[in-house]
Amino acid sequence: MPEPKKLFIKTYGCQMNVYDSERMAEALGAEGYVTTELQEEADMVLLNTCHIREKASEKLYSDLGRLRSLKAGKPDLKIGVAGCVAQAEGEEILRRMPLVDLVVGPQSYHRLPAMAKAAARGEKTVDTEFPAEDKFDHLPDRPMAKARPTAFLTVQEGCDKFCAFCVVPYTRGAEVSRPAERILTEARKLVEKGVREITLLGQNVNGYHGDDGWTLARLVRALAKIDGLDRIRYTTSHPNDMGDDLIAAHGEQPKLMPYLHLPVQSGSDRILKAMNRKHTAEAYLRLIERIRLARPDMMMSGDFIVGFPGETDADFAATMDLIRAVNYGMAYSFKYSARPGTPAAERTPVAADVADARLQELQALILDQQRAAQQAMVGREVSVLYEKPGRLAGQMGGKSDYLHAVHVMDRTAQVGEIARVRITASAPNSLTGERV
Ligand code: SAH
Ligand code: SF4
Ligand code: F3S
Repeated sequence: MPEPKKLFIKTYGCQMNVYDSERMAEALGAEGYVTTELQEEADMVLLNTCHIREKASEKLYSDLGRLRSLKAGKPDLKIGVAGCVAQAEGEEILRRMPLVDLVVGPQSYHRLPAMAKAAARGEKTVDTEFPAEDKFDHLPDRPMAKARPTAFLTVQEGCDKFCAFCVVPYTRGAEVSRPAERILTEARKLVEKGVREITLLGQNVNGYHGDDGWTLARLVRALAKIDGLDRIRYTTSHPNDMGDDLIAAHGEQPKLMPYLHLPVQSGSDRILKAMNRKHTAEAYLRLIERIRLARPDMMMSGDFIVGFPGETDADFAATMDLIRAVNYGMAYSFKYSARPGTPAAERTPVAADVADARLQELQALILDQQRAAQQAMVGREVSVLYEKPGRLAGQMGGKSDYLHAVHVMDRTAQVGEIARVRITASAPNSLTGERV
């Protein structure tokens, strides 16, 4: 038997990249690769990249620079670039970085095994097509090397919304939903392997529309019938695709967790319009009211961009007002980054120091809300899915229904168990609790 080849994957960007990395590892697993956590011992290094902001995409080139010495000492090492920078820059990556052996976009990675074979023959390949065939039909059926209690499952990919700042419609392509039957089969397979919580993924996951009128709400209801699957989450949602049936599902499906990531980006209607978001701040607030009517304890999460071209102090103040009105349990915020090829990149930017100051102010407010939401958990009973042993002996770490990290002293506990836990204390980034 030949020694298995070792594969090291570094994943940047969103959860969909995390999912894709797993599936790429499985595809290469069929070619005799086993994954390693140690880059130094790898026979192939695969960088699964993100193009969303300039900083994210520049990381690829600094990492490739660092790989030069590794490859110099190990000429047989193969280096691959996957993900959204691969899609956006294609051949350009080979020109700029001759040490790269293969470049593969997010819609063509089922061709990785063939590309790895070509690399072994010393050939360089680039595949950034949006092939007519469905990549999922050509990937191994979730062999999953490691058992674990949580998993991602991509149900929808791509985006047709073309927000003026965003590269996703270009890097991931048009919005496509996977057939419901395939998703249910994959979910059952994951549950057989010990998964108890599935997070459905899509760039606009709540816009999911499968064949025969399947909606995300119907998918959630079908998934909820799978024995052994105890928790369902989904991300990321767009406010305009939040249908009544999905809101209703939050009121009636106990397996659907009370945490919703619903990015709004800005609280100013003028900026929302310039962003091509196609909704107002008021419509977003009304939507959240309806969601909280169905599920009063819903923990809201969001994304914000500050310093979008044309953003004035008044626009920023409107964003701060919206944040106060919603009261987020968690939120991600970014300084606007001009992305080549997007409409907003042509516009006059906000001064960097102004954008920096706004970002700081916004993040301070979000942090206050986050801490308050955590503090409000103290004394409450939540369910915690144990994901891994904690740092202390006899301690378990997991997530509550509300997605808070919780540490529990529980000596007899097993990973994958869901325990009732009373929260006793709130630390900056996690909660502590005891089993009841
Ligand atoms: N599909 C999701 C988000 C995709 S990208 C949605 O529609 O909301 C994740 C987040 O990155 C976005 O919500 C946005 O806040 C941020 N983002 C996207 N493009 C950006 C850019 N050019 N500059 C700064 N932040 C950006
Ligand atoms: Fe990007 Fe907008 Fe599509 Fe989200 S909805 S992926 S922000 S274009
Ligand atoms: Fe980044 Fe592509 Fe995800 S640009 S955020 S890895 S869809």
